[in-house]
Amino acid sequence: MAKIKKAFFCQSCGAQSPRWEGRCSSCGEWNTLVEEVIDRGDEQKSSIKYAAQKSAPIAIESIEASGEVRFKTADNELNRVLGGGIVPGSLILFGGEPGIGKSTLLLQLSLKWSGIKVLYISGEESEQQIKMRADRIGINNKVSYLLSETSMQHILQHLERVEPDVVIVDSIQTLHTSVIESSAGSVSQIKECSAELMRYAKATATPIFLIGHINKEGSIAGPKLLEHMVDVVLQFEGDRNHMYRILRSSKNRFGPTNELGIYEMQGSGLREVKNPSELLLSNREEQLSGSAIASSLEGLRPMLIEIQSLVSSAAYGTPQRSATGFDLRRLNMLLAVLEKRCGFRLTTKDVFLNIAGGIRVEDPALDLAVVSAVLSSGEDIAISSKVCFAAEVGLSGEIRPVNKIDQRIHEAQKLGFDKIFLSKYNLKGISPKDFDIEIIAVGKVEEVFNQLFV
Ligand code: TYD
Ligand code: MG
Repeated sequence: MAKIKKAFFCQSCGAQSPRWEGRCSSCGEWNTLVEEVIDRGDEQKSSIKYAAQKSAPIAIESIEASGEVRFKTADNELNRVLGGGIVPGSLILFGGEPGIGKSTLLLQLSLKWSGIKVLYISGEESEQQIKMRADRIGINNKVSYLLSETSMQHILQHLERVEPDVVIVDSIQTLHTSVIESSAGSVSQIKECSAELMRYAKATATPIFLIGHINKEGSIAGPKLLEHMVDVVLQFEGDRNHMYRILRSSKNRFGPTNELGIYEMQGSGLREVKNPSELLLSNREEQLSGSAIASSLEGLRPMLIEIQSLVSSAAYGTPQRSATGFDLRRLNMLLAVLEKRCGFRLTTKDVFLNIAGGIRVEDPALDLAVVSAVLSSGEDIAISSKVCFAAEVGLSGEIRPVNKIDQRIHEAQKLGFDKIFLSKYNLKGISPKDFDIEIIAVGKVEEVFNQLFV
């Protein structure tokens, strides 16, 4: 058997070294040397059948695009985030904090997907543990398989035997290949195992989901390279203390990345949330000050979101500013605008801001609702629960237009709101007569203040 050749490569400059060193002798960076395989040897090559395909350049025109061969999964939210379904042979990285529900979502997917042979490979849990979880979710699928295995070589053998339609790997950090000596979860192991799986996916047109752990900073643990290599990167996020979970894609070679999937964690697994607006608006029978509704848009889907704010006298010298689900710097900027342009004294006040439902949204159209919520709490006057907002606030206190305003208005109208505040510059493309909801076009923050509280 030919020996497998390995060497250490600097991840920063690419220099090669026969042994590990703490510091790269070429570029001087610390801790960048990682072991990589240079030559697998003949033995290894021939054992991987599908890898032995010859390739040749082909004229682009003569390649038959497989067109819309995406196939739909059993999960509509996931289909939406993927841009309409799974593309055969795609490698999908699925990241998220521990305990957020990654394993649950993908196990549920393999159980719900009737007629599709899914192989769920787990390196984290035993078959019994997974079965217990499956019983909890409570759907029975006759054709899906479970495999508790961490050795890449064994997994490839099983793949060849089972020939699944879809593969789920939980998680990529637990796999190890005997080609490399370092322990499972190290950079070179992750890289090598993903590369093997990618070769399998492309050669057999089998889509593969890779669950990935995330590190302290919130990015997927291991080399950034993993994110470059895969076709789709999905993030599963949410506040563990809340029931809602959000699925976003941060990279998608086959579709847009601005779509959002929403789930609710229940005792029996994750439930798809079809109409997010009704969920995100908390129980609003009583009218309380400090709450304002924004008509927001994530991807193509409009949803109404409740912003809650509390403005109170600061107990200590430096006032506190805290925001949950909203960018704190953006909040500080909006508070500065209120202070400077509207004469609203906030220097001695604590300001707390919260987006109901524990979700995180980045939509500039939330600005006006944030400002209104803060003003409402500061004045201690409630805003009617039939009023909502959709506009950005500029540095000089001007109300700026936002995109897709007609969709935002429609959503507000559908949910029974009477009035919507928006920028007067947004009126160009729409005619207020087309809507049953009263449209209040404003140009300055002061005008909103006068309309609401004077
Ligand atoms: P899990 O899928 O194990 O998370 P991850 O793989 O991302 O680490 O999810 C674990 C959490 O989900 C756990 O705290 C319990 C909760 N859960 C439910 O609330 N209902 C359920 O039906 C299941 C299976 C889990
Ligand atoms: Mg898990």
